[in-house]
Amino acid sequence: MKKDIIKKIPKNILNLLKEIGEAAEDFGCQAFAAGGFVRDLFLNTQNLDIDIVMEKDAAEFAKKLAKKKGWKVKTYKKFGTAALILSDDFKIDITSARSERYKSPAALPQVKAGLLSEDIMRRDFTINTVLINISPKNFGEITDMFSGVQDIKNKTVKVLHDISFIDDPTRILRAIKFATRFNFTIDPHAQVLIKEAVEQNIFARLSGKRFFTELKYILKEKDPVLPLRKLFEYKIIQTIHPDIASDSDALFFLNRIKEVILWHKKNDYLKWALHFMCLLNNCGKKASEDICRYFEIPHNRKILFCDMRLEAKSLLNDIEKNKIAYKKISVFKTELILYMMAFLKNPLKREKLFKAYKRAKNTKVTVNGNDLIKLGVKPGPIFSEIIDKLFEAKVKGEVATKEEEIDYIKKHFLHNRN
Ligand code: CTP
Repeated sequence: MKKDIIKKIPKNILNLLKEIGEAAEDFGCQAFAAGGFVRDLFLNTQNLDIDIVMEKDAAEFAKKLAKKKGWKVKTYKKFGTAALILSDDFKIDITSARSERYKSPAALPQVKAGLLSEDIMRRDFTINTVLINISPKNFGEITDMFSGVQDIKNKTVKVLHDISFIDDPTRILRAIKFATRFNFTIDPHAQVLIKEAVEQNIFARLSGKRFFTELKYILKEKDPVLPLRKLFEYKIIQTIHPDIASDSDALFFLNRIKEVILWHKKNDYLKWALHFMCLLNNCGKKASEDICRYFEIPHNRKILFCDMRLEAKSLLNDIEKNKIAYKKISVFKTELILYMMAFLKNPLKREKLFKAYKRAKNTKVTVNGNDLIKLGVKPGPIFSEIIDKLFEAKVKGEVATKEEEIDYIKKHFLHNRN
């Protein structure tokens, strides 16, 4: 098994792990690869989120190693963790086992076992408890205290103890995320524990912020429909707000979104935000704001979910009648246009909207308020009416230069004045 697993690690990562293992030895302890990285090696799935566990102070170790290697480092002393930042999109998390065990007078191997089991016991599921030793002497050796490898093979999500979901209700979302992502089943006992925790209203005790962080991971999944369906089945989504979309509404709309995403192909939008809007589908302004407040969603996103989303919905009737508010959609983000497209049944109308959006986004009117005053227009709502019409004419290619813009204004708005 040792050789097999080492073979699965990409060469550059392997060398990096060896280097960290050696540095840890110089620092006086062993280090282990842990968590999702190891789980995914057994699943033959690429995962470059590397977590390292070590038996001494991870923050001190990371600082020392980063200095030697010229890497950036972030330390979280309070949690005994650190992140080695090797590049903008590649970091390695390092965690220390509990420091109070540090001074244990017990013999070394037992201390190691003690420290490691402490760390492992704190983890969520057996599939995430497998460790790979990266220290020079034992490189590649597997520590599997909870038969995690067997559970990975059996495609089962199991908790380590009965109060796991009570300790940390975000694990309920994580169990659903892993089960649907890997096509695993949640072990029947864990299913009972989830139901019991939900019945005990455990989500009322979880902060909205933590709830949302985990929900966001689900909304970012390749196919969030599956985990969201489960979240509805366990009556978890329903705990968010009474106005949240019903399961059938949300799932129907999520499938529409899926079609739009497939059509769009590009990755130039916030996938989680698009999916989150499906859950908000039936919510008015007040309910949307309540939900954003509960989830502690930052102000700019709140504007997207509460104000702009509702404005986008209000434009749909006209769009169905082939009337597009070019100026308004020109400031929308791609996710909002994709959201609007999902409401349109006719694929041609969807495409038309998207093309109009692309054109509108690249359109700028040159004439400004001063020009309008010079033309003799009195400031007032007529200003935005003129600019909106001019904008539309420009999107449609009816005018191009500033002179043409002025002629257009004279022709359409000032013809009665002379
Ligand atoms: N973990 C946990 N309880 C949590 C969150 C994390 O026990 N509520 C542990 C798990 O052992 C997990 C590890 O911390 O494997 C790393 O967490 P994270 O990076 O969030 O999870 P991954 O398993 O790597 O999942 P993903 O593939 O979704 O990144």
